[in-house]
Amino acid sequence: MESPRPLIVGNWKMHTTLREAQKLSESIVHGAKQFRSQVVLCPPLPWLVSVAEETKGTGVKIGVQDAAPGEFDAQTGNVSLGMIAPYTDYVILGHSERRLAGLDTDKTINAKVLDALKRGLTPIICVGEFIHLYENKRPRGRPRRIEAASNVVVQLRRALADVKRVDLKKIVIAYEPVWAIGGTEAATPEYAAKIIVRLRRTIARLGSKATAAVVPILYGGSVNPENAAALLSQKQIDGLLVGRASLKSDQFTAIVAACEEVR
Ligand code: PGA
Repeated sequence: MESPRPLIVGNWKMHTTLREAQKLSESIVHGAKQFRSQVVLCPPLPWLVSVAEETKGTGVKIGVQDAAPGEFDAQTGNVSLGMIAPYTDYVILGHSERRLAGLDTDKTINAKVLDALKRGLTPIICVGEFIHLYENKRPRGRPRRIEAASNVVVQLRRALADVKRVDLKKIVIAYEPVWAIGGTEAATPEYAAKIIVRLRRTIARLGSKATAAVVPILYGGSVNPENAAALLSQKQIDGLLVGRASLKSDQFTAIVAACEEVR
C-alpha cells in the first residue's frame, strides 16, 4: 500500500510584506506542481485573501495562524474563524509562541478547536514541552509549573476536551518541542518519534486505534532541507510544520523534495 502523502505546512508567522507574500506563494505554487505532498501555506492574516487567490485551484492549501471562535461579536482587534472560513482550509491553534505570550490557554485553544471543527476547518493543534524534560530525569517531588505545563499529553487532552469521537479524524497534531523552535536545534528524529507515539496512543484512547492511525502528526522545530529527510524517515512522523525555512521558496521546496525522497 502506498504511504499517505506527507503534509508540509509553512508557518510564515509575522513575516513578509504583501508583495513578498505574493511572490513567495507564486514560486511555491510553481515548485509544488511536481510534488505529491500536501503543501499548506499559512500567511499573516492581512495577506490571506491575496495568497488564497494565488493558490486557488493549484492543490496548495491555505491555513491561518490563529483566529477567535465565533463569527461576529464586539471584540476589538479580533478576527473570527467564521470570517476567515471561506478563505482557508486549516488553522494553526495553540502555537507555543501564543501560549508563552499569554495569548492562549488550554481553555481558549479548546474553544477554538471546537469552533474550527464546527466550521469544517482542519485544526493543526500544536503541543510541545517548554523545557527539555524527557532526556534529563527530573528529581522526585512535585513538578514545577513549567514542568507540569510541559506535559504534551495533557496539552493534547485539554485541547480535545468535548471533541466528538467522530471528529477526532478531522484534526492534525503538530508536535513542536519549544526548545527546538527558531533555528536552534531540531529534536532528533528518534526523540520526536518517541513523543509522537505517546500522542498517537492518546488519540487511540480518546477515539480508536483506527482513528489514531489516520490522524496526521507533524514534527516542527528548526526543520531545514538538511534534516527533513531524516525526520520523515521515521514512519511515525507524517509531515512537518516549518517556520523560518518556509520563508525562502527554494528552502521550502527543497524540504518537500527531501521528504518525498524517503516517502
Ligand atoms: P522554526 O519554527 O521552523 O523556525 O523552528 C517552527 C514553528 O514555530 O512552527
